[in-house]
Amino acid sequence: MKLEINDLHVEVEGKEVVKGVSLAINQGELHVIMGPNGSGKTTLAKTIMGHPLSKVTGGDILSDGASVLGMKANERAKLGIFLEFQNPVEIEGLGLLGFLNTARGAVSTEKFSFKEFMGEIKGRASSLSLKEEIIGRSLNHGFSGGEKKKVEILQMALLKPRMAILDEPDSGLDVDAVKTVASNINDLRKKNNMGILLITHYSRILNYMEPQFIHIMKDGRIIREGGKELISEIEEKGYND
Ligand SMILES: Nc1ncnc2c1ncn2[C@@H]1O[C@H](COP(=O)(O)OP(=O)(O)O)[C@@H](O)[C@H]1O
Ligand SMILES: [Mg+2]
Repeated sequence: MKLEINDLHVEVEGKEVVKGVSLAINQGELHVIMGPNGSGKTTLAKTIMGHPLSKVTGGDILSDGASVLGMKANERAKLGIFLEFQNPVEIEGLGLLGFLNTARGAVSTEKFSFKEFMGEIKGRASSLSLKEEIIGRSLNHGFSGGEKKKVEILQMALLKPRMAILDEPDSGLDVDAVKTVASNINDLRKKNNMGILLITHYSRILNYMEPQFIHIMKDGRIIREGGKELISEIEEKGYND
């Protein structure tokens, strides 16, 4: 899959937040967007997934050359696009297990036994250092910040997307958890030949990954692009050019 974003303009609540962003991500590639708070990173991520509050006022988003703008979020998920939320929502009463089962059934026609499914969940939960009892609880309800972010990765492991947008997978994680999450993302990327667009404020998680393309976003625009070398420059000088 190839995901292309061409001169995208997005309004939220009548305010232009994304002001002409272009990006092209091939399956298997790891792209990173860094940028200060409020630069429109989350809005861009949600727009790719088809969030109803994002109003595209210009440009296009293409999957293998075909526009996805007319598609709902669930249809985009079926194409193999996945979004890890920056702030996952808590839904009391919706069991995590049932949620994962329904989500997987909605994007994949692959047959699997309950035993296989449970095995996959338990295996991934263990490699994410998530307590097994969490599987029996309501989705994100009362989960710690770190657990919520890890459950997003668990979801990604089960849905096997071809293109994953990860909105601050490192936020709220302690040092060990950052390492654990990075190694799970690396593992899934390799297994499924995923393309990844990873959004982060901090370079720490990138120490455990091999990002190929770095994009710096500020005030709704990509202001700089380059390779890994940009990361240390940002660490040193900040986002002001
Ligand atoms: N639902 C919304 N209503 C009003 N303004 C919003 C909404 N979502 C985002 N914004 C505004 O859009 C700008 C970019 O936000 P966001 O995309 O979350 O940036 P980032 O993820 O880079 O921190 C901010 O000024 C934010 O206040
Ligand atoms: Mg954000």
